[in-house]
Amino acid sequence: MRALLLLALLLAAPRAMADSADITKILRGRYLATVGDCIACHTGPNGQYAGGRGIETPFGLINAPNLTPDSDTGIGQWSEADFARAMHEGVRPNGDRLYPAFPYPWYTKVTREDTDAIFAFLRTLPAVRNTVDRDTLPFPFSVRTVMRGWNLLFFSPGYYEPRADRSAEWNRGAYLVEGLGHCSACHTARNALGGDSSAAWQGGPLQGWFAPNLTNDARQGVGNWSVEDIVAYLRTGANARSRASGPMAEVVGYSTSLMNEADLRAIAVYLKDLPAAAPTPPAALATSDPAMRTGEALYVDNCMACHRRDGQGVEGIFPILAGSQVVQQPGTDTLMRIIISGVRSVATDGAPTSPGMPAFGWRLNDQQVADVVTYIRNSWGNQAPAASAADATRLRGLVAAAPH
Ligand code: HEC
Ligand code: HEC
Ligand code: HEC
Repeated sequence: MRALLLLALLLAAPRAMADSADITKILRGRYLATVGDCIACHTGPNGQYAGGRGIETPFGLINAPNLTPDSDTGIGQWSEADFARAMHEGVRPNGDRLYPAFPYPWYTKVTREDTDAIFAFLRTLPAVRNTVDRDTLPFPFSVRTVMRGWNLLFFSPGYYEPRADRSAEWNRGAYLVEGLGHCSACHTARNALGGDSSAAWQGGPLQGWFAPNLTNDARQGVGNWSVEDIVAYLRTGANARSRASGPMAEVVGYSTSLMNEADLRAIAVYLKDLPAAAPTPPAALATSDPAMRTGEALYVDNCMACHRRDGQGVEGIFPILAGSQVVQQPGTDTLMRIIISGVRSVATDGAPTSPGMPAFGWRLNDQQVADVVTYIRNSWGNQAPAASAADATRLRGLVAAAPH
């Protein structure tokens, strides 16, 4: 596999192949681009890295540009230093500010050596001519100088600084998670202007999903997950506790499932050191509560066959709902989406069959979706705020607008 890739690289870019040091650098760059998940955003109808995919932001869709070496429509005329500046400061060679839909607030932590390697890899891609519309935002966000103000408020450029009081493995994990992995872009809630909220790593809504708390809180975070549980989830998209779907399925498919074992362990070791932090949930609703009674009846009719009466599921097939982090997040978007439109989790080489959950949106109305969600969030020891029919209506609209 590695030999084939080398051969392909040699054929594709004979000039760039001066010596084996170059080849090592290019292979490292390819791996680092995988860690950074560049392909997920920069792939569109004209091919990998050729751009054109619209990225959702609170201000509108922003198209990811062409990263192939085409000199007119890609980054063919950029130097290594231009590329490093874009990654480190979010600035284009002509001085234009980039929007943080491009995760430069995280990539700023990446070493110059690593951005140079990524650049060397991008150089070996076939040049694809693909003009991408870069000016899709409405006024005033269309004015790129507005980003100067945003950067002042929310962005501090700076390379990752290793901590002397932590192990090399922890530092490697921190470098990956806080830098190329940009995990907190989703796992820390954004504030109204798209900056970090103060509740670091406590999870947040995104695109009609809810990215869970990754602190060591036992109920909402990964407090009960071992390093091995986290590694298995990132490598295969599934472990005995949960299965990755939605945006995390993409992260696993394009990025973490292709990382090496040592890096996955480093990431897990770092996450296991994040101090527990989560909003205190309200006391569980009584089984006599009207929403709980309706929810229970709906659960018995629609869900019990797979997830079992006691919420224990079937290991390796139907996820456990009792004690589940996904079920007990402050926001219900993931739960409602899964119930309304069904879900199929990611299939990886490590876990090739991906069981699916059928859609119930055609069968349950918005109040019923809310009630069954309220029920699973307050049964079997679970504790989380009740769900609302208004949220189910909103999710139904989102699912109808962008089915996936
Ligand atoms: C979450 C989606 C996302 C990911 C992941 C992502 N990018 Fe981007 N990137 C964008 C968007 C959107 C823009 C355009 C921003 C703008 O127009 O201001 C962009 C812009 C860029 C630019 C500026 C190009 C130009 O012509 O202005 C470069 C360089 C770049 N990305 C490189 C990368 C690399 C390298 C990676 C992986 C390490 C990566 N990106 C990962 C979304 C992403
Ligand atoms: C594009 C947004 C996004 C990014 C980037 C992202 N995640 Fe996630 N992550 C999610 C969502 C959404 C879920 C919930 C998936 C589900 O419920 O099926 C999730 C789930 C998880 C879970 C399972 C938590 C649980 O309680 O079930 C772990 C662990 C995790 N992510 C780790 C990471 C790590 C490590 C990174 C960085 C390498 C990362 N994530 C990057 C969105 C993201
Ligand atoms: C035919 C079997 C089946 C039925 C019936 C079913 N589910 Fe599921 N459910 C699944 C499977 C399989 C998954 C894992 C899907 C995935 O992530 O790809 C799942 C996932 C879930 C999850 C996400 C768990 C996690 O850790 O990510 C929740 C919550 C859930 N189901 C709730 C329900 C509720 C509520 C109902 C009834 C309205 C229901 N399910 C009915 C099979 C089923």
